[in-house]
Amino acid sequence: MKTTEEILATLSVDEKIRLLNGVGNWNTFSANGKVPVISVSDGPHGLRHQVVAAINDINNSNIATCFPTACAVSSSWNVDAAKKMAQAIATEAKAENVQIVLGCGMNIKRSPLCGRNFEYFSEDPLLSGEMAAGFVDGMQSKNVGACLKHFALNNQEKYRQSSSSNVDERALREIYLAGFERTVRKSQPHSIMCSYNKINGVFSSANKKLLTDILRDDWGFKGIVMSDWGANIDAVNSLKAGLDLGMPDSNRYFDKQLKAAYDKGELTEADLDKACKRIIDLALKYDEHKDEYVGGSKAEPVDFKVQHNIAFELACESAVLLKNDGIFPLAQKQKVLVVGELAQNMRFQGGGSSHISTAPYPDALESLKKYYDVEYVPGYLSTFCKAAKKQKINEKRKTDAVKKISAFIEKNPRAPVLYFCGLEESYEGEGFDRDDLKLPQSHIDLYKEIIKITKNIALVTFSGSAIDLTFAPEAKAILHMYLCGEACGEACAALIAGEKNPSGKLAETWPFKIEVGAPVDDLDVDYKEGVLVGYRWYETKNIPVQYEFGFGLSYTKFEYSDLKVEPKEWSLSSSKGPVEVTFTIQNIGNVDGCEVAQVYVKNPIDDLEISRSVIELKGFEKVFLKAGEKKTVTITLDDRAFSVYSTKKKCFATVQGEYTICVGASVKDIKLSSTIKVQGQDIHELVQKDAQEQEGIFIKHPRHKKGEFTVTDSLIAMSQESTYVRVLLKIYRLVIILSSKSKSTDDPAVKIGITGIEENPLESLISISGGRVTEKLARKIVKKANK
Ligand code: BGC
Repeated sequence: MKTTEEILATLSVDEKIRLLNGVGNWNTFSANGKVPVISVSDGPHGLRHQVVAAINDINNSNIATCFPTACAVSSSWNVDAAKKMAQAIATEAKAENVQIVLGCGMNIKRSPLCGRNFEYFSEDPLLSGEMAAGFVDGMQSKNVGACLKHFALNNQEKYRQSSSSNVDERALREIYLAGFERTVRKSQPHSIMCSYNKINGVFSSANKKLLTDILRDDWGFKGIVMSDWGANIDAVNSLKAGLDLGMPDSNRYFDKQLKAAYDKGELTEADLDKACKRIIDLALKYDEHKDEYVGGSKAEPVDFKVQHNIAFELACESAVLLKNDGIFPLAQKQKVLVVGELAQNMRFQGGGSSHISTAPYPDALESLKKYYDVEYVPGYLSTFCKAAKKQKINEKRKTDAVKKISAFIEKNPRAPVLYFCGLEESYEGEGFDRDDLKLPQSHIDLYKEIIKITKNIALVTFSGSAIDLTFAPEAKAILHMYLCGEACGEACAALIAGEKNPSGKLAETWPFKIEVGAPVDDLDVDYKEGVLVGYRWYETKNIPVQYEFGFGLSYTKFEYSDLKVEPKEWSLSSSKGPVEVTFTIQNIGNVDGCEVAQVYVKNPIDDLEISRSVIELKGFEKVFLKAGEKKTVTITLDDRAFSVYSTKKKCFATVQGEYTICVGASVKDIKLSSTIKVQGQDIHELVQKDAQEQEGIFIKHPRHKKGEFTVTDSLIAMSQESTYVRVLLKIYRLVIILSSKSKSTDDPAVKIGITGIEENPLESLISISGGRVTEKLARKIVKKANK
């Protein structure tokens, strides 16, 4: 086999340039067979291998196993679960000849309203980074590459292609990059996908500080950086900044720019070689294992039964029991009334580029029949259609449901009602955000009717992020399934019936109301809350929440004891080694179960003018305990446990003081604690009081006006000032709606198609429209918009 250098030596400059841009939607360039092709596919919770590439037909992909989405699997707090899931996805990837799976997604959940939260792990960088490291290790142990995305600060969907996430240096390093950093340092993902958005005014794809100074020079990343689909806006500067592969195919648009820059001497052959070498290195890595891929002598066949079982076990681990007055597990073999169409038309995944086409599997309604004598009333319509029509159907269904529920309860006064409710598909997804935490009004209205008839009710809920459950104080139990993959129905029934014991814990805060970080309808998104993201905000400001970070119930109980923190005094340079937190957990109930033990550090806050969270997660472990069993757990804290990112010293540094080490079952439910003296620096030596102001980050970044528009502007930006573009957008919107299967604007596939056309810079449409928006057309639009 040829080496990278040997292959590189055979490539012409044109071929090198061509290698830096994808071929079609999913492949790299082969240079007439000189470079092995890398084939990529979404990710993250299953394989979306799209053989038919149509821009508004993202749901058309080969049948694959849909595992729990990231919001669900992160609630397992089980790094091995993420690993197992990635290994299973890798098996399917190899069978489809896919070398890189575009996942996992690991943006920080800045607000519960981000439409794409379901694809991300957590609001906490430690949990997010550990889960992602598990995912990468699992995927790459099978010789399939992982791709961390979206690097970085793509924390809202509104204007994701053109907005600037304006963030201070501490929040950037301590929160938004810390998870990526942990995963890169621990697991060396083969690739990373830069996000669409700008960071402090500079597109991620052309952000040298992000892609080279931090990612490669500081963290030691060795893989390739690829752009999100259409995120490569300025090919020459992107290449210089550290972007290796622009995706997808730009139909020579970017090649021309690179060639022109090369001819003018603005780009050297060494610049091209650097990126080409990384791509070839990776291609050769997969080529070495090509006998494991489909058709090869070591290829493994996919056993979809085995895959489905993995999906089932993971779903059982992911669900979170939020409330239980003792009704769950529900005694088997009794009469049960299931209400709510989500029991049948289950939401087990989200919409957009992560949408998996699955084989049909039993829904919750069918699965519950294994344990109970079930009757069913749909109660509301969960799919999308025209608003007026939907309202009419919902009214009728509600009236029917009230009649049926009343008749049922009259005959079976003690029988429980399982009410299935949650966010419908049109409420959250890629390309759009939610407005609030509320469930569809029809779900709330129906609930209110049910409790007039019976109070013997338990809720089974679905969503990709936090929802408002304050409408249901009477519910005797609440089991939140998140969006937990194709085995969601079976998992849900097994958990309710007590065949499985819930062990999920929230990887995000469920607030009463959105305090900070809500998506904004603006091209400048100011991260004014700084480092106080998620529970860091609610705990520091002492604001009550519905359910706190780390919370989740079990059918058994655990007792914590014997905390030991060693050493009692610590400094980074001391010879005493890292801090070890040792404690004992005992399962004091009657059934086997798993507990997620969490270690938090309470920070000394000496100066309120310097923002620091009062409490931070620094370690965790999921422990399985048979009924009555006791185990001793040791969690080692790493160097970052007592640190901040020093804006004065430009690195992480230990802050001196007395810290409290807390061991708990959630951020609020602290079971054991002990103090530790930490030697380090005074916080004032490390960070400024008014850092955000000094950094001058909250500014309105310049926008083009009529006469100044270029192909880097989006149609929506131009439409503010151009009637021509407004009309054009109307036509495009109509084309997208009419060419969709559903013909509905509530269809997530339509929503993402429309925002794509509206919000993508024209330059990006040239590459993602599959040749429909040509360079000539883009320039014509710009010319007209400027008139
Ligand atoms: C998404 C990525 C995805 C890519 C390819 C983009 O729109 O943001 O997450 O991997 O499309 O489908």
